[in-house]
Formats: sequence, C-alpha cells, structure tokens
Amino acid sequence: MALKLRPGIEEIAPYVGGEASVPGIERPAKLSSNENPLGPSPKAMAAFREASADLHRYPDGGAERLRAGLAGRFGLEAERIVCGNGSDELIALLSRAYAGPGDEVLFSRHGFLMYRLSALAVGAKPRTAPEADLRTDIEALLAAVRPETRILYLGNPNNPTGSYLTAKEVSELRRRLPPEVLLVIDAAYAEYVEAADYEPGEALVRAGDHTVMLRTFSKIYGLAGLRLGWAYCPPAIADALNRVRGPFNTSAPAQAAALAALEDRDHEARSRAHNRVWRDWLAGALTASGYRVHPSVGNFLLVEFADADAADAFLKSRGLIMRKMGAYGLPNCLRITIGSEAETRAVAAALAEFAAMARPQTAAR
Ligand SMILES: Cc1ncc(COP(=O)(O)O)c(C=O)c1O
Repeated sequence: MALKLRPGIEEIAPYVGGEASVPGIERPAKLSSNENPLGPSPKAMAAFREASADLHRYPDGGAERLRAGLAGRFGLEAERIVCGNGSDELIALLSRAYAGPGDEVLFSRHGFLMYRLSALAVGAKPRTAPEADLRTDIEALLAAVRPETRILYLGNPNNPTGSYLTAKEVSELRRRLPPEVLLVIDAAYAEYVEAADYEPGEALVRAGDHTVMLRTFSKIYGLAGLRLGWAYCPPAIADALNRVRGPFNTSAPAQAAALAALEDRDHEARSRAHNRVWRDWLAGALTASGYRVHPSVGNFLLVEFADADAADAFLKSRGLIMRKMGAYGLPNCLRITIGSEAETRAVAAALAEFAAMARPQTAAR
C-alpha cells in the first residue's frame, strides 16, 4: 500500500532556484537569484575561514553573539531575534507555528513563492489578493481577509516586482487587519531601499503582538550560500519559533561570517551604491531601447517583453542568465539582477540588439 501524504504536499511545485549554467558557455553571468555582484565582505570570508578550525564543534544553538550584534546594530532587543537557515526557513517555521489544515495564508498576487509553498506544506490554503500595476494593494489584501486567515505575508519591497509600500501604508494595513492575523513583513531587500518613506518594520513589531519582520544575509551582505536569515518578533512569537526550530538550525561558520558582514559597513555601503548606480543606469538603457521596466527599489529589475522566452533564449546565447517569471504569474517578464558593471553593460547591449531585431514586437506596446 502506498504511503499517504498529508493533504497539500502534492500541490507543491518544488521551488526552482535561479539557473546557474548555460551549455557551452564557460562563465555565464548569473543574474537570476538577486545575489550581490560584489560578493561577500572580505571580513566575512576571513571569519568563515577562521570558523573552519572548530568544525568539529556544534554551533551555538541560540546564535547569541550574532543576535547581540544585530540588536546593537539595529537598536533591537536580542531576545526578540530568532535566526534561521535563511529567511526561507523562518517563513516555513512561521507557517508551521501559526497555520494548518483549514486555515488560510494570504499574500499579494505576485508575492515571493515561498509564501505559497510554506502554506501548502502545513496543509493550509494559500490565498492571493490582486495587485494594482504590480504593486501590493492593501485594500485588496484587506478585502481578501476571511475568518480562516491566519498569516499575511507582505514582501516589502516585493520580489519580483521591486515595488514597495510606504511605512504609512504598512501601518495602515496593520491597523485595519484583525489582531488575530499575523502580519509577516519580509524585508529581505530592506538594506537597498533609500526612499525616505520606507521602513523595514521594526517599529510595527515593537508596537504590538502580531507583527514579525524578516531580514536576511543573502542579499546586500552577499552570504546567500551560507543561509542566514533573522526574524524580529514580539516575545511570544520568538518563543514559538524557538520551540519549532531545530536546535542547531544555523551553522557556526554562517553565524561568524554574518556577524563580520554586519560590522563591515563600508562593504555594505559600497554594495548599496553600486546597486543604485547600475540599477538606475540599466533601467534608463532598457527604457531607451523601448522596453517597459517596472520601477524597483531592490537589486533587480522586472522587465516586460513581447516574448519573454525568446528574450531569455537570446540572452542565454550571450551567456546572460535571467529569471523567468512564469511561476510568479508574469510570463511576459524577466527579472534581471543588477550584476557587475561589465555584466550590466552586457545585458543592456544584448537587449538593445534584441529590440532592434524584434522591433515590430516591442513597438506593439
Ligand atoms: C522576498 C524574499 N524573501 C525571502 C527570500 C529568501 O531569502 P533567504 O536566502 O534568506 O532564504 C528571498 C530570496 O530571494 C526573497 O526574495
């Protein structure tokens, strides 16, 4: 007799990460996973190497030093911080702790895929709310709340659209949400945002018992390979996460490298400046070539094509790997991570050439 899977598991289409190789091309530009083109901080690399001498030891299960570092850096209470094996793990743990069969998990139509997957994995029903011009619509989210709604995941800024909600809008969303709905503000790209009206969400977490903020070392800190995310929570939620997480869910080298990365403010500032300059340059260049580029505050751009598959194939033939967006309900878009200067210039040149070849298609917009 076949083993019986829990309901919902078979509905999960396993997460497919960004592609990393192109047959026949030795060193393609991987612009498919929103990684930092400057790499990790040299200080983080040194801390990682140093940690290798103690690989026979179990890690500090409570990530004490890292949590103290985060608390000091961002003015938070260390006991309200929980670290995870990437923020992906924290999303999975929050869904496990607060949702289950018969419950609903809500997010915006083009929200990050893990929100859906984590809901299905615990037997809850994912529900989406429409967006207005690829921007989270708080009225639509509030209208989609039902008695079964347990969690609302808000990517802010959102991946893959690159749009964000202002601090005022997020506060209003929280104020009008029923208190029994957990609001998870996923601020994976917060460090890139320079808009004065944006806040990652610490103040809202502190103001109540029903809001969590998620952050990660995978983006501006360039440590995606090490898997380190963190949650800032009300005390009861931190307590719940500490109950459901594995006792050693983050590794010792990851903790050490993350702490060093946090202290390297120059590398962080350089990464932010590089991103701002080349994101804005690429948006301008692609717009000049006739493409519709959605405004982004993250380290990526969402670009529309008449035929995104053809554009993707063309870019791949030039060794440029983008993220296709079918899984996000955006089959006519590609998401382009801001790479190095050379990579960004290569993307602009290739897409200018592609537009010239396919002029009748792009002119149709
Ligand atoms: C919005 C958002 N949240 C969470 C994550 C997961 O990041 P991590 O590497 O910390 O698991 C990503 C990664 O792309 C993301 O885009």
